[in-house]
Amino acid sequence: MLKRRQFLQVSAAAALGALYPISLLGQGRPRNPLRIPDLLDGERLDGIWQYALEAGQGRSLFLPGLETATLGFNGNYLGPTLRLRKDEEVRIGVHNRLDETITVHWHGLHLPAIADGGPHQEITADGRWDARFRVNQNASTCWYHSHQIHKTGEQVYRGLAGMILLEDEQSRALELPDEYGVDDIPLIIQDRRFYSDGSLRYIENQRDIMMGHHGDTMLVNGTFDPVFVPVTRRVRFRVLNASNARNYRIAFSDRRQFHQLACDGGFLAEPLAVSDVTLAAGERCEIVADFGDGAPVDLVSLPLPDNSPLRSRGMMGGMMGAIANQGFHLLAIEPQSQLTATPELPPVLASVPDPASFAVDRVRRFELDMRMGMMGGGRGRRGGMGGDRFSINGRSMDMGIINERVPLDSTEIWEIHNNSPMMHPFHIHHGQFRILDRNGRAPGPHERAFKDTVIVAGGETVRVVMRFENYADPVTPYMYHCHILEHEDNGMMGQFVVE
Ligand code: C2O
Ligand code: CU
Ligand code: CU
Repeated sequence: MLKRRQFLQVSAAAALGALYPISLLGQGRPRNPLRIPDLLDGERLDGIWQYALEAGQGRSLFLPGLETATLGFNGNYLGPTLRLRKDEEVRIGVHNRLDETITVHWHGLHLPAIADGGPHQEITADGRWDARFRVNQNASTCWYHSHQIHKTGEQVYRGLAGMILLEDEQSRALELPDEYGVDDIPLIIQDRRFYSDGSLRYIENQRDIMMGHHGDTMLVNGTFDPVFVPVTRRVRFRVLNASNARNYRIAFSDRRQFHQLACDGGFLAEPLAVSDVTLAAGERCEIVADFGDGAPVDLVSLPLPDNSPLRSRGMMGGMMGAIANQGFHLLAIEPQSQLTATPELPPVLASVPDPASFAVDRVRRFELDMRMGMMGGGRGRRGGMGGDRFSINGRSMDMGIINERVPLDSTEIWEIHNNSPMMHPFHIHHGQFRILDRNGRAPGPHERAFKDTVIVAGGETVRVVMRFENYADPVTPYMYHCHILEHEDNGMMGQFVVE
């Protein structure tokens, strides 16, 4: 094998001693062991499981020899993995040790709006906030991240995110790999861009807002060029796309088959044999791969197929094409020579109700729009770039406006129509929904389970059905929004109350 070296691509600005963007070409060696975020299991006190998160500044060594200023919970970058158990009471105490306001949102959790951690639950500098709720949903992989108004993209980019594992009796009873950090492995996938001094490059121009901010360097659990060494034959990966905007098409470099077990909100009915799985920003999946052949292999992200509905159309298609064509190495996998045997996957994972059987009380329609033109629009009414070019039903996010009021104990179809040429991952707080159809056609087998974030391709109409229950609050809203964080921060978000 050729000895590969790492090359720094430098621009002419280097000669001037100024900061310049760098790209790390070729996958550098030596590789770095994949970091596994600490597992925060909570402590039971007075019948309540207590967790503590502290947001602070950190310094991270991602790139060889370069330090990066980052944010993290209980550490330099990202946060610990929280393990929550169904039907238990939980209190998560958050202490914000930063000098800026943040929030901490529990993405995918069904809980009272006041505990949701959306833009209305601000935690000011050195402030504290307690989220109290009862874990009220099935086993799944969820996550938490800052949701500060207009700042979500930047704060998540700098590191304010982490994973949540939800367990229930059924998930514990299933014979699945479930030893955290051994055969049950979190993979938090993020793309980043760096300057020559190691600092993070965030939004630099209008294009980063229009298309969402895309990076050229991959981090997995905050590890650059990571390697993972399986010690068991089968490994379960919990894959979280915590990138601001990028879509991934996750696969193995030898195109081996693997099984998808779960999407955002929980298990599929049975393991699904696949050779790749696509994740948009905010989405998760659980997969199990078999390393019984002992061969080293890479986890990669493949370019989107030419006919992919995720490719943008028209003028945006040209601009987004370069991004859709990119492939990435994500994780080197080098199985150890003796692998512990693991049982076959169970044939049945869960009973997943047919969404067509839900009794529906009402249909609501949501139109997603983005005004085109890189230069057009000028400054928005909030003075920032991007302004109100992004909207839902003709309105940009306004903290003072409740856009929708949903009656408690009702079931609704939300019909999401994307008027723009570019895909948007649409996310709804409060709970998990099922996808009814895409342009009238049944959803794919990989998304036939509970979801909280759904890809809506350019021009597409997706209908989801969701039950609004358990928590009423006529004052405190939940959010719905595009999970491309630059779109969310620039107006493609709305608020609803359940009352
Ligand atoms: Cu992942 Cu409203 O957020
Ligand atoms: Cu959310
Ligand atoms: Cu969007």
